[in-house]
Order: sequence, then structure tokens, then C-alpha cells
Amino acid sequence: MTEQTKSFIRVCRFDEIEEGKTKVIMFEGREILLARQNGKVYALENICSHDGGILGEGAVVDGQVECPRHGARFDIETGQAMRMPAVAEIESFEVRIADGDVLVSPN
Ligand code: FES
Repeated sequence: MTEQTKSFIRVCRFDEIEEGKTKVIMFEGREILLARQNGKVYALENICSHDGGILGEGAVVDGQVECPRHGARFDIETGQAMRMPAVAEIESFEVRIADGDVLVSPN
């Protein structure tokens, strides 16, 4: 059986995301957040697994995005919960940069 090739969808320009910041976009009918750190871009579900906080309003700190509601943190690369009160991970998406564009795979 051949490995299926993932599809990627262009979502914005790389330079539309400030270093160390997040940007919320619509993707496949729902909001996701893009986080840029050290010249790389990561894509995560925009809803905190603790109590539904909107993560895109938070800052990127040391590779993690912090939920503005109660301070839970998630790894921007994997979506893993890194600080209480969240314990469950959130969904992460594969990102590619091509010709200055940010492309995200819908998984
Ligand atoms: S809703 Fe995010 S920490 Fe509570």
C-alpha cells in the first residue's frame, strides 16, 4: 500500500504573524491559532482543554501558549498540556512554509 500524501492549505503569509505572537484564523470551518517562535510557525486548536478558554488571545512564552482564563499552558509544537489546570492535550496541525506562505494540513 502506498503512503497517502498529506494535503496542505495556504492560510496566510508568514510575515503576517509577528515573532512571539499568535494569530487566529478560520481553517476548515473552525478557528485555529498560529503561533510563531524562533522563525517557525505552529498551528493549534484555539480552545483550551480546561474550560474552553480562547487561546489565541494569549502570549507565546518559552514554546508554550498560555490560556488567558486560568493560566494553563500548552506546547505549541505538540499541543500537550504543560501546566495546570489543563491536563488534556489540544489538537495540533502540521505546518509548512513555502514561498513565504504558511500552509496547514487539516490532519
Ligand atoms: S479555560 Fe484555559 S485554563 Fe481554564
